[in-house]
Amino acid sequence: MSKKLIIAIDGPAGSGKSTTAKLVAQKLNYLYIDTGAMYRAVTLFALRKGLIGQNDKIIELAKQLDIVLDFIDGETKITVNGEDVSKEIRSFEVNSNVSEISAIQSVREILVEKQQKMGKDGGVVMEGRDITTVVFPNADIKIFLTASIDQRAIRRAKEFSEKGTNVPLEKVKENLKSRDYIDSHREASPLTKTPDSKEVDTSDITIEQQVQKILDCVKEKLN
Ligand code: DC
Repeated sequence: MSKKLIIAIDGPAGSGKSTTAKLVAQKLNYLYIDTGAMYRAVTLFALRKGLIGQNDKIIELAKQLDIVLDFIDGETKITVNGEDVSKEIRSFEVNSNVSEISAIQSVREILVEKQQKMGKDGGVVMEGRDITTVVFPNADIKIFLTASIDQRAIRRAKEFSEKGTNVPLEKVKENLKSRDYIDSHREASPLTKTPDSKEVDTSDITIEQQVQKILDCVKEKLN
C-alpha cells in the first residue's frame, strides 16, 4: 500500500482551497480537513453568546467547545457540542467576525492541537492559513493557492447567492480585502507562502486543472 501523505494547502479566502482540497481528498480517498470551519465555529458561538471583543472569555469558550469535523457526501459537516452548525458557520455575520477571532493566539493554539491530532497519521488534505507554516510545516506536499481579488469576490458572491443570501459584489470584495489584510498582517501565524510551497494561481484555470496540479505533485512524491 502506498504511503499516506499529509497534503497542506494555504491561501487567501476564495482562492479555491476548499473546492480543490475536497476533490483531491475524494480522488485519493483521503480525509478532507477544513480548518477554517473550526475558527468559524468558535466565532459563531462567540457571537451567539455576545462575547465579541472579550478575548479571555472567547479563549475559555474555545477550550470548552467539542468541535467534530466530518466529511459526508463531499461536504464538511461540523458539529459543536452535538449541534450541526455546518450551514450557520457560513453566514455573512460569521464571515465578518472570523478574522478577529482567529487572530487570538490562544484560540489558535487550542485549534492547532486538535488539527495536528487529526492529521498525524497522514492520508489527509488539510487547508487553511497556517497549515504549511505551523500545523504541518513538514507536510509531504505544501501548496499555496492564490487568485485575483476580482475572481475571489465573484466566487464568494456566488457561494452566498447559492445559499440564498445576495450580497453585493463590492461588499464581498471589501470583506475579502479586509480579511486578507488581517489574516496576513496579524502577529499570530499570519498567512504567508513558505519558500518550499508550490504556488498555484487559480484565476484562469479550471477546477479540474487545479486538482490535477496537486495530483501531479502527489504522483511525483510517491514515485
Ligand atoms: O477558509 P475560511 O474562509 O473558511 O476561513 C475563515 C477564517 O478563519 C479566515 O478568515 C482566517 C481563519 N483561519 C485561520 O486563521 N487559520 C486557518 N488555518 C484557517 C482559517
